Amino acid sequence: MAFEITENLFKPKVLAVGASPRKGGNSDVLLGHFLAGVKRASAGAVEIQLRDCQITPCIGCELCRQSGQCTRFNDDMVGIYKNIIEFRGLFLISPVHNYNITAWMKGFIDRLYCFYDFVEPRPGKWSSKLANQGRKAVIAAVAEQSNKEEMGVTLEAMEKPLEALGYTIIQKFPVLGIFEKGKVADYPEIIRSAELYGEKLAREIIS
Ligand SMILES: Cc1cc2nc3c(=O)[nH]c(=O)nc-3n(C[C@H](O)[C@H](O)[C@H](O)COP(=O)(O)O)c2cc1C
Repeated sequence: MAFEITENLFKPKVLAVGASPRKGGNSDVLLGHFLAGVKRASAGAVEIQLRDCQITPCIGCELCRQSGQCTRFNDDMVGIYKNIIEFRGLFLISPVHNYNITAWMKGFIDRLYCFYDFVEPRPGKWSSKLANQGRKAVIAAVAEQSNKEEMGVTLEAMEKPLEALGYTIIQKFPVLGIFEKGKVADYPEIIRSAELYGEKLAREIIS
């Protein structure tokens, strides 16, 4: 289980979720610099690396319709739900895997299904328990290829569900042309952007 309070001095306001299977890879490097930006804005964050978590994929049992919570699985999402409810800021970063987010990120996003309310009978209208609370998010993706087309639907696969849940995406951060593990550290402009976006998210949710 990977709950790491990255900043003890400030009350955490941002949940930062990494979805790369590669420890020390490009997503990890960028997440670290994003958190440095959050800290610069005098906010704290909780970092979660999905590869270290036990998160069972949603099985569509609809049990969450009764209680509003996922009561089917007693896994690491239980603690993560608390962070999501408490913090108004969210940062998601995934490497591009086959034109899409990684399986880890997809598994995580699907388990946010319990935050939706549906009007019966279904199909019908729906709403989110997280809506209208000033929630804001930054989404980032790292790709080997230099052409944005080769990123496929990666950013949209995070953007659409987060918007549906009630987050305003204040920044999309596509990082292109990076293959080797940790290589992104050699690109100061990209690193600077990660820090700036961390600072930006923190400032927007503090204000
Ligand atoms: C299974 C797999 C699928 C990939 N698919 C793509 C892809 O569709 N487009 C792309 O540009 N890069 C693709 N890549 C390359 C990674 O996105 C790239 O190496 C990235 O820098 C990895 O980030 P990480 O170090 O954070 O894991 C793929 C890598 C793997 C392992």
